[in-house]
Amino acid sequence: MNRRRFLGVGASVLGAGALAAVAVPSAARLLAEGRPGRLLSSELALPEAFRAALPVPAVLQPVRTDGTSDHYEITQKVAELEILPGVKTGMWTYGGTFPGPTVVTRSGRTAVVSHRNELPVPSVTHLHGGHTPADSDGYPVDLLLPVGSTDSGRSTAGMPGMPGMHHAAGRNATGERRYTYPGRQRAATLWYHDHRMGFTGPGVWRGLAGFHLVHDDEEDALPLPRGDRDLPLMITDRSFAADGSFRYPAADPGLAEPGVTDDYANGVLGDVILVNGAPWPRLDVDRAHYRLRLLNASNARLYRLELDPQPAGGGALVQIGSDGGLLAAPVRHDGIEIAPAERFDVVVDFARYEPGTRVRLVNRFGDGRTAEVMRFDVTSQQVGDDTKVPDRLSTIEALDASAAVATRDFTFRRSRGSGWTINGRPYEPGESIATPALGTVERWRFSTDLHHPVHVHLDHFQVIGRNGADPGPYDAGWKDTVDLRPAEAVEVLVRFTDYAGVYMLHCHNLEHEDMAMMADFTVR
Ligand code: C2O
Ligand code: CU
Repeated sequence: MNRRRFLGVGASVLGAGALAAVAVPSAARLLAEGRPGRLLSSELALPEAFRAALPVPAVLQPVRTDGTSDHYEITQKVAELEILPGVKTGMWTYGGTFPGPTVVTRSGRTAVVSHRNELPVPSVTHLHGGHTPADSDGYPVDLLLPVGSTDSGRSTAGMPGMPGMHHAAGRNATGERRYTYPGRQRAATLWYHDHRMGFTGPGVWRGLAGFHLVHDDEEDALPLPRGDRDLPLMITDRSFAADGSFRYPAADPGLAEPGVTDDYANGVLGDVILVNGAPWPRLDVDRAHYRLRLLNASNARLYRLELDPQPAGGGALVQIGSDGGLLAAPVRHDGIEIAPAERFDVVVDFARYEPGTRVRLVNRFGDGRTAEVMRFDVTSQQVGDDTKVPDRLSTIEALDASAAVATRDFTFRRSRGSGWTINGRPYEPGESIATPALGTVERWRFSTDLHHPVHVHLDHFQVIGRNGADPGPYDAGWKDTVDLRPAEAVEVLVRFTDYAGVYMLHCHNLEHEDMAMMADFTVR
């Protein structure tokens, strides 16, 4: 099943017969499974857990800075990396590594990131959680064509991987493109990833993801762990083919047509858990506080992360931040349920464990090998630690529901003949589903058939209700992605600020996204 058939877009061309011949899993079957994806097994022997050292992605140095801006350069290229010991995996990377280099920026300063595309395919780079002008937001048809493309830049007809997309050609560039991030946002754990129309799933799966951290004075003034004890942890699942490449169930292995085979339409789950690109790694930790910036960069997998053993008294994961930065006050969790694209900044005090304790980070939603994530080995060395989690972290203005100028409903579901849809419509670039006005607050209500992590570009939102009741335990603070379980409804308030233009909301299960569970909205 390719995307066009899946979407029913080709119905008039293919005829009803061709559509009927496509084995679309029934909604009933998907509901019965209740899972946001299907496991794809690796074809080679998997390594033992907790052997690899946890890698920490390098921080990208600016190539130039001036009074207001910092300039960065990233080359997107094919690289052969050793993810599993002794196995070479061909990847698509930012700068030759996976994850890509960590971009670290300062609130109030403009960051300009120039991307150069040396991949064999077009790319689109989105800063997830970025408060970004529309022309730098990584709209999915604003392609960066590979260096040396002879394409005019308007039409993408004939581009590998972009057949027939010329009807919706965006603001294309060839070779290099500058993405400008004005930095009008608070400190937060953001990430950047590929967002190409129809191919975000395979693009991210092959390695196109990295951290982007924003710092500010408010956060710097807090006594939180920093330096080596402030760790970004990108959690992903992957599967490997016998030849060491990443396995992915693309409907068209040549990736000329988007989409996955019908068995994987609900999402692709790998059987190897990677943290910062290493399988089930381990890290020696001091008996001290650590800040862990947890990011679920998996295509479809949900995790419930817990430390095992729990320290006496529980509450090991002290959440200090969410997608959009610091919470007003810390929230203690025994476990954190994290959906694709969500971030949870937590502080763990390893002094609560005896020296020598091996503390596993486990995934209670997994089974077998996917139930383990990584391990922290608590050292016996005496160390100084004057960091702590203050009772007050930040001041968060609570958006006022009575100030909302509009209420809009967005239903995320699988529609007969149309694939994954929002309000019954498969994605069509250029067709806006909502037109909020700059400076106003709106109440957006999301509802779902199955699991869908819903993401809104441009502005963070506040969750004000879940299934008619209070927000859930993982809904605190400013969010840009909120997870909905089957048949759930979530209400959020969002204020549209600073930038007019066309943005997106979509499901962040990347297989759903690629199969059209996206919509434009236009801020006017
Ligand atoms: Cu993380 Cu529109 O994406
Ligand atoms: Cu979805």
